[in-house]
Amino acid sequence: MVGCSCQKLPQNFKFGAATAAYQIEGGWKADGKGKSVWDEFVHTHKDAIEDRTNGDVAADSYHLWREDVRIASQLGLDHYRFSISWSRILPSGLPNNVNKAGVKYYSDLIDELLRQGIEPVVTMYHFDLPLTLQSLGGWTNPLIVDWFSDYAKVLYSLFADRVKTWITMNEAVVLCDMIFNTGSLAPGIKEEELAPFLCNKYLLLAHAKAYRIYEREYKNKYHGRISLANNIIWIEPYKHPRDKELAKLGLDFMIGRYSHPIYSKEGGWPPTVEKILLEYSLKQGYNYSRLPSFTEEEKKLLKGSADFYAVNYYTTYVIRPAKKGERGFWFLTGSPELDAMMEKPAYAEPSAGVIMPVYPKGLRQTLSYLKKNYGDIDIMITENGYAGKHQMYDHVRLKFIKDHLTEVYLAINEDKVNVIGYTYWALMDNFEWNSGYSVAFGLYAINHDDPKKIRSPRLSSQYYACVIKTHEINVSDQCINENIDKLHLPHYHSFTNRISASKTVIVVLFLGFMYIYYYR
Ligand code: GAL
Repeated sequence: MVGCSCQKLPQNFKFGAATAAYQIEGGWKADGKGKSVWDEFVHTHKDAIEDRTNGDVAADSYHLWREDVRIASQLGLDHYRFSISWSRILPSGLPNNVNKAGVKYYSDLIDELLRQGIEPVVTMYHFDLPLTLQSLGGWTNPLIVDWFSDYAKVLYSLFADRVKTWITMNEAVVLCDMIFNTGSLAPGIKEEELAPFLCNKYLLLAHAKAYRIYEREYKNKYHGRISLANNIIWIEPYKHPRDKELAKLGLDFMIGRYSHPIYSKEGGWPPTVEKILLEYSLKQGYNYSRLPSFTEEEKKLLKGSADFYAVNYYTTYVIRPAKKGERGFWFLTGSPELDAMMEKPAYAEPSAGVIMPVYPKGLRQTLSYLKKNYGDIDIMITENGYAGKHQMYDHVRLKFIKDHLTEVYLAINEDKVNVIGYTYWALMDNFEWNSGYSVAFGLYAINHDDPKKIRSPRLSSQYYACVIKTHEINVSDQCINENIDKLHLPHYHSFTNRISASKTVIVVLFLGFMYIYYYR
């Protein structure tokens, strides 16, 4: 086709949108739900949340879940990724008491999604640990491996007949590194020495044990797939060629720590990480590595314990050696062990999420890196989203999605990476952790001051709907405008159209000016 800038994603490529329980459900005390660390944190650490809000009501999805399914269906989503609140199903976190109302809530949601032809992609754990388990040490107590796998067993027994894609954990790097290194997220504990690394080990083992239970007891019958979602910040060298080596090590910490044990041929921690942490721990006066080692049996349990790679990509950072007195922490500002600092790249675009500059090319790099290091595994993008202001006519988000999908297209077509799907974060505006409701990620907007919590489609949602319908990234303005006519938004003009429209205005003004000049 002459002049066609067609970039079509494969016919079997899946499109989705994501949310997480604490960020949308509300109903924090409803019908026998137990408290989670976030329920506690927002009430005891009000200053930790930018606008001093909380998720007590959030998008009220506990009551408005039918609305969520309705908008998912309006978009034409292939899948909807949501998370189950552990303490809504098991109020204390332990399986002796199953909350029937919680079970019914998720069961109804799953049924309705399936009825609308939308696949439920279920995250078992998205940051909201039952408070009782936290009081027993949470992710730093080895018993959590059993607590989590008992919870997983309950979920399988209830939903495995209908849920075919499971994500055990959301973002180990946030759960272990960011949470314990900053203390600024629930449970509000700052302990940088041991907690992140104990959490590394137990979280991975908990995932693997849950995986093996499914493999043993459900896989033959239901043929589902399981993975864990890793948040990957792509890391590039700062300036100097010597920073290249640092970037490589940075990726071993960022990606390898949570991937090598599962996806590599050898299994276990990445050798570089193991070596650096042992040396650093000895220097600190420990006589062991702060990163606990795996037994051979544990290595075996972990190796191959995922059916696909799930990646959440938002941003790219650069890495450089730390200057005297500088000390960063994983995963946003650097690493004491590497004596390195990370910074936002000068070439990335800012967004309302201060820690998330926009750099779509980093997504393609990430996808190619995963293929290069872990082979031809299927990769599902389980989150990618733009932190914006609360506006309806969100050109920037539309461009964000388009630019990221273009990188996915290139990864598939040029680098031959098996990317099987894309999931936009988020289906609708929600409680964004420390930022509260001050930023908006949603394809659908919610006015949080309005108790009705009406979901209103943004411009970007209608672009996304067109992509889903055609699999074409450069969708026609006509497709978007047909959709938004129904939504009473001003018409959309793509960049090229806007340029030619403004050219026309300039020419008309010029001619008008000449006319007045010569004939007045
Ligand atoms: C991810 C997280 C989500 C959401 C998103 C946007 O790291 O999984 O819960 O908050 O970031 O910041």
